[in-house]
Amino acid sequence: MANGLVEACSAFGTNFYRKGGKLHWCGVNLEDLARRYGTPLYAYASDEVRRRIKVLKNAFGAIPRFHLMYAVKANNNVEILKLIASEGVRFDCANLNEAALAMKVGAPYMLSGIFYTREELEAALRLKATVNLDDPAAWDLVKELLSEGAPRPKRLFIRLNPGWGRGAFSLILGGEGSKFGMKPDDARIVAREIGDMGIEFGVHAMVGSGIFDPSHFIRLASFLLDFALDVGAVAIDFGGGFGVPYKPDETELDVRAIGDGIASLPNIEKVEVYAEPGRYLLASAGVLLCKICSIKRTDPPIVGLDGGMNVLMRPALYKAYHEIVNVTRPMSDLIPTTIVGRICESTDEFGRDRPFPSASEAGDVVAILHAGAYGYVMSSNYNSTAKPAEVLIEEGSVRLIRPREEPMRDIVKSSP
Ligand code: LLP
Repeated sequence: MANGLVEACSAFGTNFYRKGGKLHWCGVNLEDLARRYGTPLYAYASDEVRRRIKVLKNAFGAIPRFHLMYAVKANNNVEILKLIASEGVRFDCANLNEAALAMKVGAPYMLSGIFYTREELEAALRLKATVNLDDPAAWDLVKELLSEGAPRPKRLFIRLNPGWGRGAFSLILGGEGSKFGMKPDDARIVAREIGDMGIEFGVHAMVGSGIFDPSHFIRLASFLLDFALDVGAVAIDFGGGFGVPYKPDETELDVRAIGDGIASLPNIEKVEVYAEPGRYLLASAGVLLCKICSIKRTDPPIVGLDGGMNVLMRPALYKAYHEIVNVTRPMSDLIPTTIVGRICESTDEFGRDRPFPSASEAGDVVAILHAGAYGYVMSSNYNSTAKPAEVLIEEGSVRLIRPREEPMRDIVKSSP
């Protein structure tokens, strides 16, 4: 197999390069980083997050009343949230815990949960949150709470299931049988009632994640716009779902085509337009560093890392692809290799037949790329493992933004 590490990495953008024979990412020597903070370690680059925000703002610049939100579920580290909020981006929150994080960093937010409880809706109304109603039952609860004297919301959203969905793996959130959103006919009734009460509202749909086809987003926005104009909504939110290339042969989604397509929809200026991506802003802004514990010299060899599905669950859960690089010896010849974690599950596997240096040894540092979104947030304590640390690279300097869990303190001693 070819010895082409730098080429392979450059396929992911200009953030990777070799200096003094050592692999650097966003100005930092990854091996040094792993040795200094230990592994497994999530490292994020603030410049990359800011750059991705700028790309989206430019791409959607032609839409008259566009606002960018960020889906907190993709990465909820408070320092990352502060950074994103400082760019004027609002937040999309899946529940009141995420809303609390938004409030902590002072960002305006929308609460976009499903199957709300009465208690949650009561709290949300008290907080004057913009609630995205996922079900007519949620509206019934809101009406009940209002009749009992709860504060009137300034604005609500109605989440629609437009009848179709799309997305990578199983990440389809719309269409027949989906648990998300309400049928357009139900939404029409809810919209009429909200309007009759003089409450301003928008319409929302999020039908899938990891989508690379610009026409999907334009179609969805067009559907929402027609619906909004019909029922008197003041805003549309076409969700997140923007695909990100994880594999070397995948290309960037043409976000400009989405922006221009939506900007040219007739009457688009009559509504505010929101998008709420998570993955797009964070995936390429994070790497996961692990260490090789040992290698089974089978054919193919099996490399065992100190972090597995407990740290990054996406490969085990979706068979998602993440590029894997041996940071310690990037120059060696590459042979097909199986790369796994140490969890007692056969699905605890990062990849098979991956080109990996034949000279790899225990103690080598390994980088798993595109781990900034849906990485730490989906990590677990499975097999009683401790969660990793997170660091942020800002202008070439590094700071710890979440300490590593300590097994004796956080796992063993916290038991009653
Ligand atoms: N808004 C809502 C209401 C959502 O449910 C989601 C994601 C987003 C926005 C952001 O979607 P994004 O832009 O990140 O595609 N765990 C999976 C992703 C699940 C996404 C679920 N909802 C993964 O690791 O790929």
